[in-house]
This record gives sequence, structure tokens and C-alpha cells, in this order.
Amino acid sequence: MIILGIETSCDETGVALVKVNHNFSVSQFPRFSVLSNIVSSQSKIHAKYGGVVPEVAARKHVEVILPILEQAFQQTQISFRDIDLIAVTRGPGLVTSLLVGVETARTLAYVWEKPLVAINHIEAHIYANWLMSLRELKTQNSNFKTFEFPILCLVVSGGHTELVLMQEHGKYKVIGRTRDDAAGECFDKTAKILGLGYPGGPNIAKMAAKIENQKLKIKIVLPRPMIDSPNFDFSFAGLKTAVLYGVRDLLKRYSMEEIAPVIAHEIQEAIVDVLVSKAIRAAKKFGVKTVMLAGGVSANKRLRKQFVAVSKKELPDVKYRMPDSKYCTDNAAMIAVAGFFHALRKDFTPWQKLKVDPNWEL
Ligand code: KG4
Ligand code: ZN
Repeated sequence: MIILGIETSCDETGVALVKVNHNFSVSQFPRFSVLSNIVSSQSKIHAKYGGVVPEVAARKHVEVILPILEQAFQQTQISFRDIDLIAVTRGPGLVTSLLVGVETARTLAYVWEKPLVAINHIEAHIYANWLMSLRELKTQNSNFKTFEFPILCLVVSGGHTELVLMQEHGKYKVIGRTRDDAAGECFDKTAKILGLGYPGGPNIAKMAAKIENQKLKIKIVLPRPMIDSPNFDFSFAGLKTAVLYGVRDLLKRYSMEEIAPVIAHEIQEAIVDVLVSKAIRAAKKFGVKTVMLAGGVSANKRLRKQFVAVSKKELPDVKYRMPDSKYCTDNAAMIAVAGFFHALRKDFTPWQKLKVDPNWEL
């Protein structure tokens, strides 16, 4: 089975061709081969404005979607006749961006006479975890078996910070979410305060790594918002304000060049501490069998390392998973994988009925 995935929810145009080998009588675990995964990122364009400009994003999606679609077919020598399913992000996201992917998918489904599935972007981030071969899974960690439900997934992206309890495929319960900024948004906004470009997450991580060469004894302690609150919600707006005031204060004595690594390091520590601590606590409370990461922020090396370390220590009998770094940020391969599980349930959407849903909740 070959699935065409299409993703245009924000500022990345994604087209992927994913082949699925599944024989449930042999294994519960379908194997996904990514034949092509093209991501055309607009981040350089939006960097000028310090964030995504929706109209510019939509225009750029329109420009590149057909050329990269063609490129994917050329790369793989696959004909549209070989496609068994089209999967497209229907929401959440920027309405004008979503429309480009959805209209493309609807048109192709009509012209090529192919079944269509509508995918929730957050769900697709979770399914990026399935984009691993059995061999990769085995090497990722020693407590490998398969994906055992219930699963607790920490979804951390530019727009979302959610703890999702997954009882089985397609069954999600959001048990906690951010009350203000998302973790990725916090990385992006604090990066701006430090004069680092968009997207902020990778830039903060790079700057934080420079701390090892720092000889100056600058100290800053940032809050870990809601780390001990009795619920599973998050809040990152206060952290951003604390960075703003901390920077203002330190700039009276030091240069930005001197303080940036120290602050970037502490921002990363504060965000990671809160995320890991709450995810592990939730996993314990709900007695899950697998804990997972998903979303752009889960590409963060410090988060991945801490997540593994704390999982191993606190939840020795629980399996942990995280997507390969290249599938953490927005891409269409994850849309195709999510599409496969919808198709298994025969959860198709006729092209005539498919509409974008910018605020679609899991
Ligand atoms: O999932 P994603 O690609 O897009 C959304 O669905 O929002 O996530 C983008 C977010 C941005 O906020 C970006 O700064 C953050 O993920 N991000 C990172 C890293 N790579 C991307 N944050 C921290 N460390 C990273 N290495
Ligand atoms: Zn995303």
C-alpha cells in the first residue's frame, strides 16, 4: 500500500510517499518505508518578521506544492496509479495555509479517483513515532517490544503543548495542556529576547551548548512554572517574562554576547524540567505502558536525553519512544502514517465533504 501525505498547516509545505507493509497475522507492527519526504521550509522568509505571517505562508504553499509533488513522484518513479490513499492535514493550523493542502488533496482525490483521509496535525505528530523500522526500534532502547497501549504522549510543538492519553489507535484524551504559550512558542519568544532568529528552539539549543566554554560566573535562575501543580496543565508565559526582566538586569553589567549562553541554557533547562516532570508524573498516575514524545520541540537533544533518563529511573517497566529527529518537526510522512491507521478503520472522507478545521481539537 502506498500513501501520499500532504501537510501545509503552518510554514512548511510537505509531500511524502510512504509505503506500508503490514501483515497482521505475522506482526502487530506495520512497517513504514518512507520513499520520499520533501519538506519545503519557509522559515528563512518568516525569520525577517520574527514569526510566521499567515498570508505570506499561504502564498508560498501555493507556489511550491505542485512542484514538490512532482518532485516526489519523479524521485520515486512512482505513478499516481500506484497511490492507494491520500492523507492530508485538515487542522489545527493557519486557515489560509491549511486550505492549500486540503484543496490540493481534494482535487487529486477527485481526478485520480483515490480515497481520502483527513488528519489531525497533532495526531500525526504522535504517529511520527511509528515511522521506525523494527530494527531501528530495537536499537533505540533496550526495553523494546511493540507499541503497547495505553500510551501517554507529550506533544510539544510551536502551537501546542499537550499531554495526550491514547487508549488505542484513534482514541485520544487530552489530560493537560498549556494555559498560555506553547513550549515551542516559549523557545521562539525567548530566543527573540536574546536576539536569536526564528525558529528559536534550535537557536536556543545551539546557544545553550556554548555554556561549556563560558568562563564568566553569571548566574540566572528561572522559574519552573506549574511544575508542582496538582494537575497536568502547563504555563510558559511567566517564563518568558522572567527572561525579559532577567536579561534587562544582566545587561546592566554584561554584554548580550556574554549572557546569552547562560540564559539560553537555563531557558532550556527550565522548559525541559517542567515537561519531563509532568509527563512522567502523568504516566505514573494513568498507569500507561508506553511514554512518548512528539512535535517539533521533541527534536531538542536535552529534552530527549532527560526524557530517557527519567523514564528509565522512574518508570523502569514502561517503554519509552520518541520519533527520529527528522520526523519531529512538520513533515508529510507522519501525515501518511496517521492516514494508514484511519484507512484501517475505513475512516475515509469523501472529497466533496472535506473542509479545513483550523481549531480542530484531538
Ligand atoms: O511541530 P513543529 O514543527 O510545528 C508546529 O506544529 O508548531 O514545531 C515547531 C516548534 C518551533 O517552536 C521550534 O522552535 C521548535 O519546534 N523546535 C525546537 C527544536 N527544533 C524545533 N525547540 C527546541 N529544540 C529544538 N531542537
Ligand atoms: Zn507541527
